[in-house]
Amino acid sequence: MKNLFIETYGCQMNVADSEVVASILSAEYQICDNIKNADLILLNTCSVRDHAEQRIRKRLNELGALKKKKAGLQIGLLGCMAERVKEKLLHEETALDFIAGPDAYRSLPALIQESAFGKTAFNVLLSTEETYDDIEPIRYDTNGISAFISIMRGCNNFCSYCVVPYTRGRERSRSSETIIREAQQLIDQGYKEITLLGQNVNSYCSNENSEVVNFAKLLEKVALLSPKVRVRFATSHPKDISDELIETIAKYDNCCKYIHLPVQAGSNVMLKRMNRVYTREYYLERIATIKRLIPDCAIATDIIAGFSGETEEDHQATLSLMKEVGYCAAYMFKYSERDCTMAAKRFPDDIPDEVKGRRLEEIIALQQDLSLAHNQKDIGKTFEVLVEGASKRDANEYFGRNSQNKVIIFPKENAKIGDYVMVTVQSCSPATLKGVLAK
Ligand code: SAH
Ligand code: SF4
Ligand code: F3S
Repeated sequence: MKNLFIETYGCQMNVADSEVVASILSAEYQICDNIKNADLILLNTCSVRDHAEQRIRKRLNELGALKKKKAGLQIGLLGCMAERVKEKLLHEETALDFIAGPDAYRSLPALIQESAFGKTAFNVLLSTEETYDDIEPIRYDTNGISAFISIMRGCNNFCSYCVVPYTRGRERSRSSETIIREAQQLIDQGYKEITLLGQNVNSYCSNENSEVVNFAKLLEKVALLSPKVRVRFATSHPKDISDELIETIAKYDNCCKYIHLPVQAGSNVMLKRMNRVYTREYYLERIATIKRLIPDCAIATDIIAGFSGETEEDHQATLSLMKEVGYCAAYMFKYSERDCTMAAKRFPDDIPDEVKGRRLEEIIALQQDLSLAHNQKDIGKTFEVLVEGASKRDANEYFGRNSQNKVIIFPKENAKIGDYVMVTVQSCSPATLKGVLAK
C-alpha cells in the first residue's frame, strides 16, 4: 500500500468529497497523517473567494520544495479551483502532476497513472448525474461521533457573485434510498450525529418508485432511524425554507433546532443585484415563522460586505436586519469578485477595499454583541449536550454541542465521549457556553 495525504480546504462538501476520494483510491492507497510519509498528496480546493485560491498557490509553493527532496512524490489538485482554472493550472503551478474537478474523481486512478508516465493529466468535466451514490466514503478524520452525508451536488441558483454553480455544475440529488442506507450504517457504527450536506439542501428532490421525496420527507426519514441520533443539515436557501420543513424540524426532538439561513445582505436593492430571489420582507417573514413554530431555534447566517453598488444605506439595512433577527452566529466576508460570474460581467467591483473592510468590521462587531446576547439568554438553562471531545484549554473539561449548535464546555466527571449529558449553563463568552453537569 502506498500512502495518501489529503488536505481539504473550503466547505463541508469538500470534507465529504475527500472521504469519497479516499474510498476511490483505497485499493492502492491508505490515508497517512504525516505528510512526510506521503507518496501522493492531494489538495482539495476552494475558489469561493480570491483569498482561498491565494492560500492554495502559497501551499503549492511549499509542496514544490518537498517534491524536490522526495523522488516519485506525486501532487494532485482537486475541487473547485481545479474546475475554475482548469488545465492552465498545470502550466502555472509546476509542483502539480494532475488535476481533477469535483465530478471527475472516479478517473483519479487513471490520472495518477498517466501523470506518473509523464503525460499531462487532467479531467475537469462536469456531469449532470454524478453523485458518487454507490461509493462508501472512508471517514478517515473522524471523532466517531459526527459524520457528514452528501445528499446532493451542484447548484442552480446562480447568485450573481458566486462561483459555485460554475465549479460544481448543475444541481442533482442522490437517491433517498442510498442516503438512508448510509445513515443506517453510520448509526450501526455508533455515530450519534449526522449532517446532511448540499449547497442548498432544501431544494433536495428525488423521485423513486413513484415516491417523490422532498427535503422535509428525507429529513423525517433520517430522523426516524433512531431517536438517539441527531440530524443536522447545511445549507438552506431562504427561498426554499417551507412551512413543511419547519414543521418537520419542530416535530422531531432529534432534528436539531439550528438553521443556517444565509441572508447575504439586508437591502432589497442588493438582494436583487445578488439574484437571491427573495426580499428582506420575505426573509423576515420566514424568520418569524421559524420563531413561531420552533421557539428555541437558533438561526445563523452568511453576510457579504461591500458588494457592487452597496451604499451606506444598504449597509445600514444589513446591520438593522441582523439586529432584527438576532442571529446566534454568522460567517461574514468581504465581497471578492470572481471571474465568470454574472456580477463580474455586469456589476463593477466598485466599493474601495477600505470601505469594504470598515463595513465588514462593523458587521463583525455587531455580530459579537448579538452572539453574546444570544448566549447570555442561555445562562441558567439546562441543555442536552452530545459530548464530542476533550476541551483544548483544560484536560479536565469536555466540549460538546447542544441542539442549537452551541459549543458548551463542562467538567468531565464521569461522562464519556459520545454520551448525551444534561448541562446547566453558568457563564458564557460570545463563542461558547460554560456549565456543569446537571444533578
Ligand atoms: N450555498 C450556500 C453558500 C455557499 S458559499 C448559500 O447559498 O448560502 C458560502 C458563502 O460564501 C456564501 O453564503 C457567501 O456568503 C460567501 N460568498 C460566496 N461568494 C462570495 C464572493 N464572491 N465574495 C465573498 N463572499 C462570497
Ligand atoms: Fe452560491 Fe447562491 Fe448557489 Fe449558494 S445558492 S452556492 S451562494 S449560487
Ligand atoms: Fe469553496 Fe467549492 Fe465549497 S468554491 S465553498 S469548496 S463548493
